Order: sequence, then structure tokens, then C-alpha cells
Amino acid sequence: MQQRIVPASAITGAITLPGDKSISHRYAMISAIADGESRIQNYSTGADCHSTLGCVRALGIDVEVDGTNVRIGGKGLDGLRVPAADLDAGNSGSTIRMLSGILAAQPFSTRIFGDESLSRRPMQRIMRPLADMGAEIRAREDKFPPLEIHGTRLRPIDYTLPVPSAQVKTCVLFAGLFAEGQTTVTEAVASRDHSEIALREFGAELSTVKGKITLAGRPRLTGRELMVPSDLSSAAFFIVAALLVSGSQLTIRGVGLNPTRSALLDFLTAMGAKILIPTLESRNGELIGDIIVQHSELKGGTIEGALTAALIDEIPVLAVLGAATEEGLTVRSGGELRVKETDRIRTVVDNLRRLGVEAEEQTDGMIIPGRQKFRGAKFDSFGDHRIAMAFAVAALRADGPSVIENADAASVSFPEFWSTLARIAS
Ligand code: S3P
Repeated sequence: MQQRIVPASAITGAITLPGDKSISHRYAMISAIADGESRIQNYSTGADCHSTLGCVRALGIDVEVDGTNVRIGGKGLDGLRVPAADLDAGNSGSTIRMLSGILAAQPFSTRIFGDESLSRRPMQRIMRPLADMGAEIRAREDKFPPLEIHGTRLRPIDYTLPVPSAQVKTCVLFAGLFAEGQTTVTEAVASRDHSEIALREFGAELSTVKGKITLAGRPRLTGRELMVPSDLSSAAFFIVAALLVSGSQLTIRGVGLNPTRSALLDFLTAMGAKILIPTLESRNGELIGDIIVQHSELKGGTIEGALTAALIDEIPVLAVLGAATEEGLTVRSGGELRVKETDRIRTVVDNLRRLGVEAEEQTDGMIIPGRQKFRGAKFDSFGDHRIAMAFAVAALRADGPSVIENADAASVSFPEFWSTLARIAS
């Protein structure tokens, strides 16, 4: 699908966005291995989170979907069944990496595969710790999906994450649920902590002290009523759109503001963004609030070190924003960007150049000078949802109409993106 975008004169209104992708995956997986029913409201409409539901269903769990309400009939730690066919993770790195932690502990073998993009993403990062715990995993070329997971009775480990990755941390913690004794994961750079919060919510015993997370194995997890906050990473596209287009004022309701995700708002505010969060509340251990954002002239800045890990999913749209700031944007320590749904250093720089924007590609980042004009152009998502949405946002500030090719990629996390954009852009 091709999507045409015309320049906007303002981004205005009030919107509610689909449920957080990271939290939806976790709630679905933990619900499946908890005892009793869980009811999840505002479950993500993205294809990725529905890949997780498909896998959970294939493992013998009752899953009922009614719009964004999902009911999961959990069967406890020992309740999963051998799937009749290979599990399909689609485009979803979260599904394959996090679910593998659970599959590694089953008394049966499973094969899990994904689409072309997922089939090129590195899996050694989960294969190593799971092998240390006793599982036997085979992969294409020893590192890529499909994975053949021969489950076993796992032993607990004490694992230090070599890359900052919440997916890997979650995989090990999920595996640790099945092992007798304490599993410990240590992270040098804090990654999103939705798994820790959700596991506690379901009844697991878990502590975090200075980057060291300790989980007691074989907990009794109990089904829950849960409400997923709106996805801050999806909100990021509209926040940047409102910042970029003069005359904008936008309200985004009920957004997840977990401190391990909200570095985005601090970073933007430090650059001069007018962002207000009138109230904050806590639901299922996660912070939620409305965001009010106004068009702002921004200074520019540098994303590096721990900040790169905290903003990893927002970097494509921040790169677009960076070109319109006073001093531009520099991204460093971003090697992980190269192993996302696409090589996001390459796909961002490629599309920035189509936009008429100067940008320098570096091994682990990019340098984007500021005060640049945007030219209407033909962009390619390269099949990556965040690239499709980031350049749709760029197109709003261009000097003429643009086209996004392979725009349907957005539905991986945000199927309503195009209709929501049409409602707020004038
Ligand atoms: C996610 C963690 C991040 C992020 C991805 C979702 C999660 O990946 O890029 O979109 O839900 O844990 P890594 O853990 O590989 O950094």
C-alpha cells in the first residue's frame, strides 16, 4: 500500500492510542502460564501482539478477543500443550525472544519462525542464557530463526546482560519462573521494566537492587484484571508531529509513562519542548497520564550511552525532528539500531536524504545537522513500521506532497496510525 501525505498547517485535537505493545506481549504470555482467567483491556491492536496471541492459542490456551478486550484462560506453569504446528512470530522480535524463555522450560519441543525481517535478527543473545539453563536450541546458521527449542527442566542462573535488552532480560526471567531456586539478571544499563512490574502484579516474588533483578522460581501466578496504557512509542510520532508543525496543540490521553520509557519526554523538554502532563495515576503498577504538547522551537542535542537504549524505538522519529532543530541531532552508541526490524541507521539516513536533508551515517549512529528544510518526496518504509510512521511525520512539514511506499508496515504496531493522523492533521 502507498500512502499520500500532504503538508499540514496544524496538528490539533485529542486522541487515544492503542495499548502499549511491550506491556500487551507480557500480559498475554504471563496470563497463559498463570492460574485462572485474566481479562486484559486496551490490548494492542498491532499485528505483533496478535502474533503473541496466536502462539499462546497454539500452545493450548483459550484466548478470546473482542476488539481490544482479551480474555485468556491461564493453565498454570505446567499447563501448556504441544502445538500442532510450528509457532509463527510474524514480524515480532518480542514474541520470539520472550516466548522462547517459556518454551525452553516445556517438556516438549517446539519450532518457532517469523517473517523475512525476523529471520535475519540475532537470536544468540537468548540462545546463550537458555543453553546455560539447560535448554537445547537450534537455529539457522546457529543464530537466526527459525528456532528449534528442545525444552527441559531448567536450572536457575545468574546472568549479566551483554547487550542492553529488555527482551533478553524478559526471556531469562520467564525461563527462571520454571526453574527451582533463584534466577538473577544483572543489567549495566536499565532497560524497560514492564516484565518485573507485571510479574509482581501476577504474584511472583522479585526484587531489583542496583540493576540486579532476582526472581524466585516456581511462583504461583494468578490470573488478573489488567488495563494496558496507551503506547508512548506510538504517541512519539504524534508528539513529534505537533512539535514540528507550527500552530499545533495536541492532547494524547492515557499514555504509559513508566520511567524506564519516558526519557523521551525529558529529552524533548530539555531541548525546549512545551509538554505538559497534568495528572499521573498508577494502574497495575504502571504510571499513566495525559500528554499535552504544543509546537515548539527546539535546540537539538545528543543521544548517547544509556539514553540511546532508553530511546531506542523513538530514534527514527527523533532523527526527523533533529533536522528541524537549531543545532541538529547526534546519535551515538546505537549499534542495536542495526538489528531492529530494519537496519535503522541505514533506512533513516536513506529516507532523510530523500527528504532533502543532509545526514551522515556512522557505524553506531548518525549526525544530522539542524535548520534543514524538508522536501516532499517518495519514502520507503522498507517494511519497518517505525520507518513508515517517522517519515509520514516528516512529510507533514515538507514543501509539497509525499508518498510512503509499503505504508501498511505501520500495522505491525499501530494499524490505526493513518486514520488517526488524518483526524488531527489539517
Ligand atoms: C522491547 C524492547 C526493545 C524494543 C522493542 C520492544 C520490549 O528491544 O526495541 O521494540 O518490549 O522488551 P530490545 O530489548 O531488543 O532492545
